Amino acid sequence: MGELVRFSLDGEIGVITIDNPPVNALSPGVPEGIGTLIEQACRNDSVRAIVVIGAGRTFIAGADIKEFGKITAGQRPRLTLHPLLNAIENSPKPVVMAIHGTAFGGGLEVAMSGHYRVAAQDAQVGQPEVKLGIIPGAAGTQRLPRLAGVARAVEMCAFGEPVSATVAFADGIVDRIIDGDLLAGAVAFAREIAGIAPPKPSERTGKLGDAAANAPLFASARERARKTKRGWMAPLAAIDAVEAATTLSFAEGCAKEADLFQQCLFSDQSKALIHAFFGERAVNKIPGIPKETSTLPIRRAAVVGAGTMGGGIAMNYANAGIPVVLKETAQEALDRGMATIRRNYANSVKNGRFSQAVMDKRLALITPQLTYDGFENADIIAEAVFEGMALKKEVFAELDKIAKPDAILASNTSTLDIDEIARTTSRPHMVIGHHYFSPANVMRLLEIVRGAETSNEVIATSMALAKKLNKVGVLVGNCRGFAGNRMLGPYGREAQFLVEEGAPVDAVDRALYEFGMAMGPLAMNDLAGLDVGWRIRKEYQHLEKPGLRQPRVADRLCELGRYGQKTGAGYYKYDENRKASPDPEVTAIIEEVAKEQGIVRREIDAGEIVERTIYALVNEGAKILEEGIALRAVDLDIIYLTGYGFPAFRGGPMWYASTVGLAKVHERICSFHGIHGEKWEPAPLLARLAAQGKTFEDFDKEKSA
Ligand code: 3HC
Ligand code: NAI
Repeated sequence: MGELVRFSLDGEIGVITIDNPPVNALSPGVPEGIGTLIEQACRNDSVRAIVVIGAGRTFIAGADIKEFGKITAGQRPRLTLHPLLNAIENSPKPVVMAIHGTAFGGGLEVAMSGHYRVAAQDAQVGQPEVKLGIIPGAAGTQRLPRLAGVARAVEMCAFGEPVSATVAFADGIVDRIIDGDLLAGAVAFAREIAGIAPPKPSERTGKLGDAAANAPLFASARERARKTKRGWMAPLAAIDAVEAATTLSFAEGCAKEADLFQQCLFSDQSKALIHAFFGERAVNKIPGIPKETSTLPIRRAAVVGAGTMGGGIAMNYANAGIPVVLKETAQEALDRGMATIRRNYANSVKNGRFSQAVMDKRLALITPQLTYDGFENADIIAEAVFEGMALKKEVFAELDKIAKPDAILASNTSTLDIDEIARTTSRPHMVIGHHYFSPANVMRLLEIVRGAETSNEVIATSMALAKKLNKVGVLVGNCRGFAGNRMLGPYGREAQFLVEEGAPVDAVDRALYEFGMAMGPLAMNDLAGLDVGWRIRKEYQHLEKPGLRQPRVADRLCELGRYGQKTGAGYYKYDENRKASPDPEVTAIIEEVAKEQGIVRREIDAGEIVERTIYALVNEGAKILEEGIALRAVDLDIIYLTGYGFPAFRGGPMWYASTVGLAKVHERICSFHGIHGEKWEPAPLLARLAAQGKTFEDFDKEKSA
């Protein structure tokens, strides 16, 4: 490995280049290297000004996130970049930071300690620490309001979204945008300002505002954080830290920031969010399918079925610039599908997410039709017709005749056997499951279901395609419900059992909402439509073991035509604005079901509701891992975080179980097994890990060893 940081001279301008691929993180050696070279440059009489720049694809993308776990485990001393930042700011020779790529977190903090910043047109700057459950820890909350004002600083530090170089320039974070070669532009800038006494960002106070002006700004940011980041501690801590910049001296503000940073770093939330950060990247690594595996080009796509899912899938392709033909059976269904697509795009334009021109361009990429015309040119065909094996087989047999030999045939089935579908074609190696989540154009998860014969090339292409479509692709094996929905089965089952046993419908939902789930399970069923599960249960009824308790409430509601939101009634009743309220009629139905089954109703607290439902997820997850349906426990976490509204700050169900302690989780599951019977049979993997005092992370490590 070459030097992490190096020095060169361009005339009388010293150039410090950071070279720590892939993203120039501030790993051990990097801050020290920059500090040493700044000091040497200050002593070097031939240097009049200094430029700091990143080699490769970016300026510094932040602290090295891998180091945080070592710090909280006590293996590394606490991180401080302050000596480096002070050395830079106190340099008697002006320091110009030259930014390209992503100056994020500690990267932006280093940049803000310089006297000037110049940036490439397409650079971004941001303080995304909150996404990792921490706050900026190197004076970001103190220097950013001084450079950009309080409103921008709160926005960036508390909500974590980056801003473009153009915005950064307009707000005073960046002093000049450089067209063309960044280094040449930065050196030219350095020559212009060499000799002028360097201005210190920490000494600026002009943009800090006054208490009266700032109060409503902080109040509304706190309200927004509580609403949009429900249960997260870091966004509120970040707001506190920025507020400190407006009430305390720079040094005192930095001390306050350091306190808050430590509290966040050592929290379970930060550990969970860091797990999720690396998890999202880990799911791309598939044993047996190396990174170099060849992939097929995806230049043209086709979709069968323009219903709820097909329309969203077509949008995904169009959003990525891939032209797509969308086929329906009847004009009316096609018109309905296209109207939904148009409405979704129009809403995005209305909300300012993109312009009308972008909408028009995307719409133009979607060709609605009633025939298979053009399918022969498609590199990928996504099937999203009604869920039913006979229909899927018919469609795939048809596609087999039309598609070119190297076209990928992807089914969006949520439960059916991919191999059985694949066998109806002459090319099962080209068949795969691409299981999107509703709404398909919004939800980030793409469960990629590998059939017994799916080729490595098709898997690698699917993983790469997921990235291109801005999704998180997770590879799973073929079984009923695959990974996500299979785990959801026991979770939903327990939610129903709990209401039969005495918990009010809204109490079950509230307990899980307060745990952090985006929605309670019963409200979620109402949203998705209770009839979907009802139809599946009827189809699979022959597989039920006689005498084994089954949840009965949902079926009873469906028999009464209560399919959920779409019929104005399900577990709840809905007004014309789809606002839910508890329904005494449902309580009566539940009591009747309980009576028929001889269930003695009792009071059930929120703790039991959470344990019964979440541990049901975990136990099924452990069985899925044992069977090899998921590659790693972290894959299940990412599935739940990106597809099922599991709270990110809890790291996913498997991670959460490990934080509770697998011995405790196992003990509770054994107790539920004793009370509620064989559906709670503890997964042997869970029993083993619990007995060994291990976590699911240990299991992932065992597997990768
Ligand atoms: N530390 C350690 N590793 C990092 C890293 C970081 N800050 N940022 C990225 N990486 C690693 C990734 O894990 C990945 O590793 P892999 O190839 O082994 O899986 C590799 O770099 C490439 O990352 P991506 O696949 O994410 O590459 P992209 O090009 O898609 O994205 C990025 C690049 C925008 C920089 C994105 O990686 C990112 O957002 N990184 C995190 C940035 C961040 O959160 N910075 C703040 C850190 S906390 C901090 O600075 C605290 C400070 O206030 C004291
Ligand atoms: P939907 O009922 O909204 O849409 C299905 C569409 O397919 C209908 O418009 C129908 O006219 C059309 N269709 C039927 N046969 C066709 C054919 N031969 N050619 C062209 N079009 C045809 O159904 P939805 O919800 O979109 O589901 C589609 C698939 O996606 C199913 O397999 C389902 O299990 C799966 N899925 C559904 C999710 C959801 O939340 N709705 C989530 C994930 C997967």
